[in-house]
Amino acid sequence: MTVKDFIGNPKWYTDRGIPYRRGYLLHGPPGCGKSSFITALAGELGYSICLMSLSDRSLSDDRLNHLLSVAPQQSIILLEDVDAAFVSRDLLPTENPLAYQGMGRLTFSGLLNSLDGVASSEARIVFMTTNFIDRLDAALIRPGRVDMKQYIGYCTEWQLQQMFQRFYPDEAASEGERFAERALAAHAEISACPVLIPQHFCAFPLHVCLPLCKLMWKKGSWLLRPLAWARSCSGGAGRVSTVPASPPNLRFKPRTVEDLPRVSLWELLYRLTFQGFHSHMHELQILEKGRYGPIYRNGMNAVSVSTAKLLEEVLRNDDKFPNRGDMSIWKEYRDLRGYGYGPFTEKDERWYNLRAVLNKRMLRPKDALQYGDTIGEVVTDFIRRIYFLRQRSPTGDVVTDLNNELYHFSLEAIASILFETRLGCLEEEIPTGTQDFINAISQMFSNNFQVFLMPKWSRGVLPYWRRYVAGWDGIFSFATRLIDRKMEFIQQHLDNNQNVEGEYLTYLLSNTQMSIKDVYGSVSELLLAGVDTTSNTLTWTLYLLSKYPQCQEILFKEVSTSVPADRAPSAEEVTRMPYLRAVVKESLRMFPVIPMNGRILADKDVMIGGYQFSKNTAFNFSHYAIGRDEDTFPEPATFMPERWLQDSHNRPNAFGAIAFGFGVRGCVGRRIAELEMYLFLCHLMRHFEIKPDPKMGELKSVCRTVLIPDKPVSLRFLDRGSGHAA
Ligand code: HEM
Repeated sequence: MTVKDFIGNPKWYTDRGIPYRRGYLLHGPPGCGKSSFITALAGELGYSICLMSLSDRSLSDDRLNHLLSVAPQQSIILLEDVDAAFVSRDLLPTENPLAYQGMGRLTFSGLLNSLDGVASSEARIVFMTTNFIDRLDAALIRPGRVDMKQYIGYCTEWQLQQMFQRFYPDEAASEGERFAERALAAHAEISACPVLIPQHFCAFPLHVCLPLCKLMWKKGSWLLRPLAWARSCSGGAGRVSTVPASPPNLRFKPRTVEDLPRVSLWELLYRLTFQGFHSHMHELQILEKGRYGPIYRNGMNAVSVSTAKLLEEVLRNDDKFPNRGDMSIWKEYRDLRGYGYGPFTEKDERWYNLRAVLNKRMLRPKDALQYGDTIGEVVTDFIRRIYFLRQRSPTGDVVTDLNNELYHFSLEAIASILFETRLGCLEEEIPTGTQDFINAISQMFSNNFQVFLMPKWSRGVLPYWRRYVAGWDGIFSFATRLIDRKMEFIQQHLDNNQNVEGEYLTYLLSNTQMSIKDVYGSVSELLLAGVDTTSNTLTWTLYLLSKYPQCQEILFKEVSTSVPADRAPSAEEVTRMPYLRAVVKESLRMFPVIPMNGRILADKDVMIGGYQFSKNTAFNFSHYAIGRDEDTFPEPATFMPERWLQDSHNRPNAFGAIAFGFGVRGCVGRRIAELEMYLFLCHLMRHFEIKPDPKMGELKSVCRTVLIPDKPVSLRFLDRGSGHAA
């Protein structure tokens, strides 16, 4: 049965109650045109190709199943080189060391189940290719999974003659015979690949071959050849009998960046300045997505992607040493003052080595748990402060300027880990120096964008550069003071022959791979990254819980049933509460504190969303727009933590909300931040019911590098009277 017959006969399948799908296996030596044949067939049918690499280490059973079930209609599913991922169970272990473990997280039975599950109301065509059919397990290629096996081998003499005639129709048939004879004499095994055949033409002194070859490449017409070749080969060893005679409907060239919709720099500047988007860049993502689609060239000449699927494609192609983009303006400050680069500013192998040091004692969930008691103490102090603040309000239950209070909480928590000391941010009087540091961060961030955008010559004329440098000075002087204090403490102990014990900073300072310059650079960046992010996420979470009392009630129940009332929750306990985790994840989906991010892919050319991009293309991720995408998140404006608790088939695409980034360059403080937020929410729920303050009204989000509320937040904290241990 030809593929076309199959597509045109759904009734035959439905009448007999069998899945409407068909599996094909193309086998034969490498480079003979198996994949090209499928490309040509897809073009002829007007189908797209969903190519899956089974040897991709990130592919799991669930993921393959999901991918197969969401493959678009009118597409051919192509599993290339199936022998590379799974080999026969009959081979000896020595011949087959990876047998049935799969190369990644995909198992053989998972593959079989996924193939058996491929069903659809429209024709579903699965192609597999292999160079070694005898290495495949019989179960993989039994009828039902593979309905037709087709050998595609080396060219016969007859095929070479036919090929010659197609390329040079005006030449005499005897020329074709002569060519085939001489080609085979030189190479007994000639690949039938349409891309390689012209090389054989060029190897012989035919007066027309070179110009023709050039012409073929120029017009991209080589892609047409699989069909021509298949038609001409229908009598030979590489026989393919299913190819129809009608002209193919193929794209000649992959689409490139030039084919993308484009926003000019002037449009961008107009929107930022006259339409007020400079503080609403996140909303600009939604506007641009509506206007230009999910992938376009933005005003900064980067490629913006705004669906989970496209984001996943980019991140799965990430470099060995991922690069978020131009950090030169941050580096400039460090160079100016002679500080080392930290994890944000460092790049390539030096960044990798730095992360290897910083990740230890921070990134693994187990590492973060050791800070449970330290964070727990800060949380207890904060609850005490909430009691103090609310009683000062006219109604006795309102806390005003909550975002500022949470800022102090986050700073106190991260500093207690990084500097192994308490700053006193939760005292009635904030210590001098701490408020300066808070102001310095805000000053640096609010001038960051101007420094990035404005020409260098304007720095001496306009005030933004001076403010920007002063902001950084404030950040670094605060951090270096605390580091120096710790060093003095260590030195004193060493001088007195006492043991030095400590946590993160002591570990960094005693690490021989880091100079003091590097410690200054890294700790300042960790401190900077660890305050606004956590505090704003907590602000949004409390606001959402106050607006969705039913969610708050579920969370309260989970917290009260998981931990006995007479003791405080432990770090292990809070990380095991599914609803609590879902609440934080959902808050970050709706208000991703870092609403945009990016990568420059420098290692290789990549195909994203059907477009071919050359090395060094910059991609911007529109996290805010992705988190609000209706296709991934039904009712995107509604707070629904439950959506993260569904089974793996119904759960949203994880790339829809990756608030901490992805891969080796993902957030180094993730586990610390999560622990901080879980402990905080768990304690808070046991003490208070949170309600909106009618005086405040609705909050809107503003983008100041991070996503913050547009006004001071005030909420009501009703005492649950539980007498819980904080
Ligand atoms: C809710 C809290 C937080 C969120 C949502 C968050 C989010 C992020 C994101 C999206 C990135 C970029 C990742 C990527 O490009 O793939 C990042 C990087 C980073 N984060 Fe966080 N973060 C949070 C808390 C923290 C904390 C508490 C720390 C410090 C202890 C921290 C330290 C860093 C550092 C140093 C980087 C740069 C990593 C690198 O480039 O190698 N973050 N964070």
